[in-house]
Amino acid sequence: MINDIERVLISEEEIEAEVARVGRQITEDFRDKNPIFVGVLKGCFIFMADLMRHVDVKCTMDFMAVSSYSGTSSTGAVKINKDLGQDIEGRHVIIVEDILDSGVTLSYLKHYLLGRKPASITIATLLDKPARRKSDIVADYSCFEVPDAFVVGYGLDYNEQYRNLPYIGVLKPEVYS
Ligand code: IMP
Ligand code: MG
Repeated sequence: MINDIERVLISEEEIEAEVARVGRQITEDFRDKNPIFVGVLKGCFIFMADLMRHVDVKCTMDFMAVSSYSGTSSTGAVKINKDLGQDIEGRHVIIVEDILDSGVTLSYLKHYLLGRKPASITIATLLDKPARRKSDIVADYSCFEVPDAFVVGYGLDYNEQYRNLPYIGVLKPEVYS
């Protein structure tokens, strides 16, 4: 294990089982709706790839890139760095995020995309950290609730590192202090 990780919080096997469950749920809920998955880069990339392979309905996908975060605490400001390449009017949008933390990013994004008149917007997040919520946003699909610790792996980073870990781990505090 990489030396900077204090402990494994969620194992590869647990992630696989839970992502499959959410994929099956989305399959049931979006039959004949041709949803568009909108991944929020870069943290979504592994979750989205695994999730979509468990979704057995016709669908499309796109990505957005936003920045709201540097280091381990949210700045509160959200900036769109890459927007969608297509119209979502009348489409069923499923936003795919790595973690719902303060909720600032997702409530901004949901509001922003609602302005384009989609048929619906739902949120699928790998992790939910409710202890730090600042806005009243809830995830429609969430794989795991996590405690108020900084976690990395399976797409999630600390200063762009650790995204490649196949599990979710807690970073040693001395790494970021
Ligand atoms: P929010 O706007 O505070 O909900 O922050 C959402 C973004 O912050 C996520 O998409 C992550 O990129 C980042 N983030 C929040 N908590 C963590 C964490 O524990 N580890 C890694 N990234 C995190
Ligand atoms: Mg992110």
